Amino acid sequence: MLLPVIMAGGSGTRLWPLSRKLFPKQFLSLYGQATMLQATAGRLACVEHYAPLIICNEEHRFTVAEQMRQVDLPHSGILLEPEAKNTAPALALAAFQSLAQHPDDDPLLLVLAADHVVKDEAAFCVAVNNAISAAQAGNLVTFGIVPDHPETGYGYIKRGQPLALSDGQGELFEVAQFVEKPDLNTAKAYIDSGEYSWNSGIFLFKASVFLAELKQHSPDIYHACQAATRAFNPDLDFIRIDAAAFATSPEDSIDYAVMEKTNQAVVIPMDCGWSDVGGWSALWEVSDKDEQGNVFRGDVLDIDSHNSYVYAQDTLVASIGLKDIIVVKTKDAVLVADKSRVQEVKHLVESLKASD
Ligand code: GDD
Ligand code: MG
Repeated sequence: MLLPVIMAGGSGTRLWPLSRKLFPKQFLSLYGQATMLQATAGRLACVEHYAPLIICNEEHRFTVAEQMRQVDLPHSGILLEPEAKNTAPALALAAFQSLAQHPDDDPLLLVLAADHVVKDEAAFCVAVNNAISAAQAGNLVTFGIVPDHPETGYGYIKRGQPLALSDGQGELFEVAQFVEKPDLNTAKAYIDSGEYSWNSGIFLFKASVFLAELKQHSPDIYHACQAATRAFNPDLDFIRIDAAAFATSPEDSIDYAVMEKTNQAVVIPMDCGWSDVGGWSALWEVSDKDEQGNVFRGDVLDIDSHNSYVYAQDTLVASIGLKDIIVVKTKDAVLVADKSRVQEVKHLVESLKASD
């Protein structure tokens, strides 16, 4: 059966000052009422599955437990990482845990990021259901998004030969090439060719298939995570691992450690209003806007602004005549930025860290 694995260990620095080390993006309500984590867990009703396994950093354990309790969604444990080592080790821990939890099954892991917006949940469900037979057959299924600009922060998937889906519905392709985070010129060439999709960062594969590929392509991560999970240590909702063994794992993402190297990847196109909300302009993009293209959150008083995003926490924020501007006012910081330059927020955060 399908086991959702929700990765909730990112730092989300590009949404500073709202996203903070102790309260990153996945725990915020950026789109709609629910937090990103709650929305992720809540969009799974359409497919039969075990209660999701959540994997996050130890320091966020109470936030995760509390947010899941608030929406009354079951989970099958919150797996705690003593340190962040990126998604390949996180998923290795989850895969070993899933096999320990379900010794008579080889669960299909539906890997989800806890910080994505999916506007069309029905389309998401169709894609996931379409992926099941390919994953059962031993493939690593990726979900491809039609790209609309040469974003360098994504993985790019080149479609290969079409493959038949078991029910004859929908589309499935071999992956001819997977390139994680290409440079700008390469990304432009990929977009122009029309042959590439963005990697959504959502995957479906058998736990055993992922572990076998990881063992082959990134054996150090595999062995460190295997040792770290030799004995799981349950502690109420939380599942602890051997921190010393995990410390020996290299850091890497699934995209570099496995997806660029495997030849078992396939891709299912997915058109579900997906966004990874990779910064303030992306959040403006996905949000519902007023007639002038503005998004106002909180107590905002505005005259004649256009295509702007204004977020007011605790106090009134008043604006006049903004054009393509982001204003974010939180308890202890204010960001004012040109919408076309919000990617530079990460540099601000780096210089803040350096001055700590
Ligand atoms: N548990 C855990 N531990 N989760 C993590 C860790 C970690 O060490 N690092 C990241 N995550 C979580 C993040 O919270 C996010 O939900 C997800 O894993 C993906 O990590 P990101 O750091 O956001 O990756 P990315 O956005 O740079 O790139 C990935 O996603 C893109 C689409 O959004 C890649 O898969 C790209 O290929 C893809 O295009
Ligand atoms: Mg991301």
